[in-house]
Amino acid sequence: MIETTEAATRAGSEPPVLPIALVGDDEGVCCADGVERRYLSFDAAASTGALPQVMRAVEEFLPRYSSIHRGAGYKSQLSTAAYEHAREAALAFAGRRGDDVAIICRNTTEAVNHLAYRLGLGGDDVVVTTVVEHHANLLPWRRQASCRYVECTPEGTFSPADVIAALEARPRPRLLAVTGASNITGFQPDLEPIIEAAHERGVPVFVDAAQLAPHAPMSAGADFIAWSGHKMYAPFGSGILIGPRAAFGEGDPFLAGGGAVDLVDLAEVVWSGPPEREEAGSPNVVGAVALDAAIAVLSEIGWPAVRRHDAAIAERLRRGLAGIAGVRLLGPSLGTTTLPVATFEVEGVAHGLVAARLSAEFGIGVRHGCFCAHPYLMRLLGLSDDEIGRYRDAVRQGDRSVMPGAVRASGGIQTSDDDVDRLLEAVRVIASGEPAPVAYAQEPATGDWSTDAVSWLGAGRAPTGCGGV
Ligand SMILES: Cc1ncc(COP(=O)(O)O)c(C=O)c1O
Repeated sequence: MIETTEAATRAGSEPPVLPIALVGDDEGVCCADGVERRYLSFDAAASTGALPQVMRAVEEFLPRYSSIHRGAGYKSQLSTAAYEHAREAALAFAGRRGDDVAIICRNTTEAVNHLAYRLGLGGDDVVVTTVVEHHANLLPWRRQASCRYVECTPEGTFSPADVIAALEARPRPRLLAVTGASNITGFQPDLEPIIEAAHERGVPVFVDAAQLAPHAPMSAGADFIAWSGHKMYAPFGSGILIGPRAAFGEGDPFLAGGGAVDLVDLAEVVWSGPPEREEAGSPNVVGAVALDAAIAVLSEIGWPAVRRHDAAIAERLRRGLAGIAGVRLLGPSLGTTTLPVATFEVEGVAHGLVAARLSAEFGIGVRHGCFCAHPYLMRLLGLSDDEIGRYRDAVRQGDRSVMPGAVRASGGIQTSDDDVDRLLEAVRVIASGEPAPVAYAQEPATGDWSTDAVSWLGAGRAPTGCGGV
């Protein structure tokens, strides 16, 4: 089990100092020139690696793992206690007090779908949301209700006043669903006044904390909040949805089945109270243990240290990219506080090709494309409705070779200044216009670029290391 802050202090151990190496951060990868380089992940906004403490907690737990809640055996009781400890840790991590309940689920996407179903919204209900949202915080609402969107500026930001205008429009909204931080630009809306304004107007608030959770304290004022373990160093398939117990006390749960009921006969079902009512089926106990361990480490490090580290990395990354000739940084202007996330275009080089070259020639993993937030990226790129229509037609015909997009580099507690400098140097080479040292080809059906000079997954080839390639 991982030590809590209190236990660590008692034991006299120092909080971890940032950056912290994650599991596998010392792995090498064979690049196109035959040189093995340390693999550098700049894709934390998609998924982070695991903290060593998370891996150890899972390893220590597995010998005692068993089914939970219904088992009377020693291991079942230990496992139940570990699972329920994770639930309590999640509530404390999100700053919750009182009668809130934490539902352990798979990820943020599942949490939002769960909530959208449980709120019992109908087509006449209005959910206020924003154009900067990840699809996970758009599509579930759109399916259940009518959405009213807060627009963003060309820099991809909006203000509390913009949200208030949408809250005041009629009909009165049933919910405000807003991100804690953007996965594309790292923009952090000013949540506290936004939540206060919604509450003054009798509108409950859901905060999508998928990006916020590993970087900043969560908004304790939000009525509902959700996040994913795999974005905060616990990639074992768990996520959290928190909300008032009363919101889950009546009606059918999102998933029906075993574990969610007190009594069933052929005519009737007596559902359990929350959270059990919301967690039908065998839960992900190992994922909960992993999340608990990650929460303990982040709590031990403390938000001030995380924030300082993130701010320094964000500044170095964003300013560095913006300073490279031929690179256009999307999102808020330099000097704005953002998460350590930077999304950019390289003039004259397709986004997929930039990502492929960073990978094959430099051993750096980034993400490219539209980042599951198409409306936001289209705005950041400044595309017209006609252009978007043409892209839509091409995609419908199975051609993704001209899909709009950009490149995203995102870091976390593992990212060092040297890592940022290595990325910047690689982008500088690509943006310089020098021809690539190896040939790349694009696959129209996926839009992805690749080179025959490296193949990490082919039969008989070593996945890492140049020796076997
Ligand atoms: C802001 C935001 N919300 C929601 C999600 C969905 O998270 P998950 O894929 O873990 O469900 C993501 C994932 O990238 C995200 O960045």
